[in-house]
Amino acid sequence: MPNFERTLITAALPYANGPLHIGHLAGCYLPADLYARFKRLDGKRVLFICGSDEHGVPITISADKENVSPQVIVDRFHALNKTSFERLGISFDYYARTTSPVHRETSQEFFLTLYRGGFLLPREEPQLYDEKAKMFLPDRYVEGTCPVCSNPNARGDQCENCGTYLNQTELIDPRSKVTGTKPVVRPAKHWYFALSRFQGPLERYIESHRGDWKDNVLQAARSWLKAGLQDRPITRDLSWGVPVPLEGAEGKVLYVWFDAPIGYISATKEAVPSEDWRTWWQNDATQWIAFLGKDNIVFHTILFPAMLSAHNEADGTHRYILPDNVPANEWMNLEGQKLSKSRGWTVELHEIIERYPADVIRYAFATMLPEQKDSDFAWKEFQARVNNELADIFGNFANRVLTFAKRNFENKIMGNRNELDTEGKALLSRFGEEANGIAQNYERFRLREAVMGTMDLARAANKYFNDAAPWQLIKEDKANAGAVIRSCLEALRALAVYFEPITPEASQKILKTLGHSFSEETWQNAHEPKLHGQTEIGDVEILFSKIEDETVAEEMKRLETMAEESARAAGNMGIGNVPLSTNGKISIDDFKKIELRTAKVLEAERVPKSKKLVKLQIAIGAEQRQIVAGIGQKYGPDDLVGKTIVVVANLEPATLMGHESNGMLLAVNDEHGVVALVTSETEAASGLEVR
Ligand code: 2FM
Ligand code: ZN
Repeated sequence: MPNFERTLITAALPYANGPLHIGHLAGCYLPADLYARFKRLDGKRVLFICGSDEHGVPITISADKENVSPQVIVDRFHALNKTSFERLGISFDYYARTTSPVHRETSQEFFLTLYRGGFLLPREEPQLYDEKAKMFLPDRYVEGTCPVCSNPNARGDQCENCGTYLNQTELIDPRSKVTGTKPVVRPAKHWYFALSRFQGPLERYIESHRGDWKDNVLQAARSWLKAGLQDRPITRDLSWGVPVPLEGAEGKVLYVWFDAPIGYISATKEAVPSEDWRTWWQNDATQWIAFLGKDNIVFHTILFPAMLSAHNEADGTHRYILPDNVPANEWMNLEGQKLSKSRGWTVELHEIIERYPADVIRYAFATMLPEQKDSDFAWKEFQARVNNELADIFGNFANRVLTFAKRNFENKIMGNRNELDTEGKALLSRFGEEANGIAQNYERFRLREAVMGTMDLARAANKYFNDAAPWQLIKEDKANAGAVIRSCLEALRALAVYFEPITPEASQKILKTLGHSFSEETWQNAHEPKLHGQTEIGDVEILFSKIEDETVAEEMKRLETMAEESARAAGNMGIGNVPLSTNGKISIDDFKKIELRTAKVLEAERVPKSKKLVKLQIAIGAEQRQIVAGIGQKYGPDDLVGKTIVVVANLEPATLMGHESNGMLLAVNDEHGVVALVTSETEAASGLEVR
């Protein structure tokens, strides 16, 4: 590995369009922080950069929904997410915003350099235009029928039903989301980045990292290269974003994926004094590690490296570095299902941090990182990791040693740093050797293994304490018992250093209790004895409290309730006790759009882990279907089989707790939930129309 003088660590700038969840933490921000903290302890100069990505169409859509300006949305979520990171101990050196003036200027300069270098060329392509709103429609502002699977609600960029990436003009019967009218096709001018010119250089760049990048990252990059790189439009018709700095480009902004990665550079300019930013970005002695989640791989291995390479060609004097590594993770699931905000199947960071200490969250998640493949977060495992490892091994060692030392040795650190017993010396030198192995795991981004290896050190320390049995020894040989405890205190100090990337708060507390500080400590010298004799031992507190079974049950209940509420809000589970509407009347034709039919219940079973959801197989005439309904608190499977119910037959399919629901049954609801099913007096026939 080349001998780098400094390490630039970037973590993907999260959109300021909603709260972050545990998937973000495990996918990107915790690994980045573990690595950054390790590198600092390893004595490297580190700059750890992140910030809010405050542009992009989804933000303007959120703003439209709330009838506020996009600034209101990004102000809210920038503050929320920044605070969550701080509370979780994510040690960014700087947390920027892409709405800052420095960012706007940096992005525009970057654009102009590429433009002058001939890498950005205007092109006219057909685009959908809303004549009522008098605007070209960005992809996310158009919906229509998917040409592949006929899903009536495909988006302008992608059909979520079949996954096909679409061009907005391919949609059948497009509708503008701004006015609901049918847009027309008009030629629109945009600037295209000459990505195709970088096919060869990028292939060489990616393959030069064959030996050091993770397989999932190499594979993703290769599959894009294999498909052949196309020039890409990097401007959009929008008012929210960085304005395109060209005459004749009024009303256009830079595509969010063009300006967002430049955000790393502008953040650096804000973080360090004046021209120092160049030593972080344009100096081959800087190692740049880009942390991000799976969906961002292509932008950091293909698009941004191509943009930087284009800049390097266009500007003969300064050369940007490219990422040295992109240790992207896969997805983390939650209790066996994909995380989904819209389905209420999520745990948000600003909430989990209210309920558990940062160290506890950090340790548990660090053992479950989706490094090689998707991982699953389960509350039971969270509890087991915290109770059986963090509390029982590391926490317990700290507590036993400190309590014993205080009680038996006048509350002081006894002896001096040379007075360790033989086994104690052996333990510390083993620490030194194993720390090298752990360091290699950090360097290879095998962070889970690094964390397990660190816990193994605490295991070894506990074993040493047990084998030495100082409570026995002290009765026979107080001096020897003192040497054992001195060894244990040194081991505890060293563990505090090794655990610092994972549990920074506990590590600080331990050193404080030992009257010691991090200033003398490095990863390499942590195993050397350093404590001063006669130092008073501070207060001993329990480092990690255990998680009770009831707490796990509460978490499961919380999830279930959120999922059910989301399903209800999405209109798939009955209407609830809402006041009768007096205005907003609909025509008979509108009513006829809802296809109500009788259906016979053939089978019914409860959805596991849910009190409310029941899965039904129903016959609507000759057709058989599955629906999922939130009626389980009132009706069990036996009450349902054989009944003739009424269903909305033409409702879009939805997925409730992982089960497809293809229709919705009608039920009478009050404020407590379902009170009765709507059934047919004529039980015999199913598939009949209800009007
Ligand atoms: O996926 C996301 O959340 C993007 N906002 C990440 C941007 S990373 C970088 F390029 F800024
Ligand atoms: Zn489709």
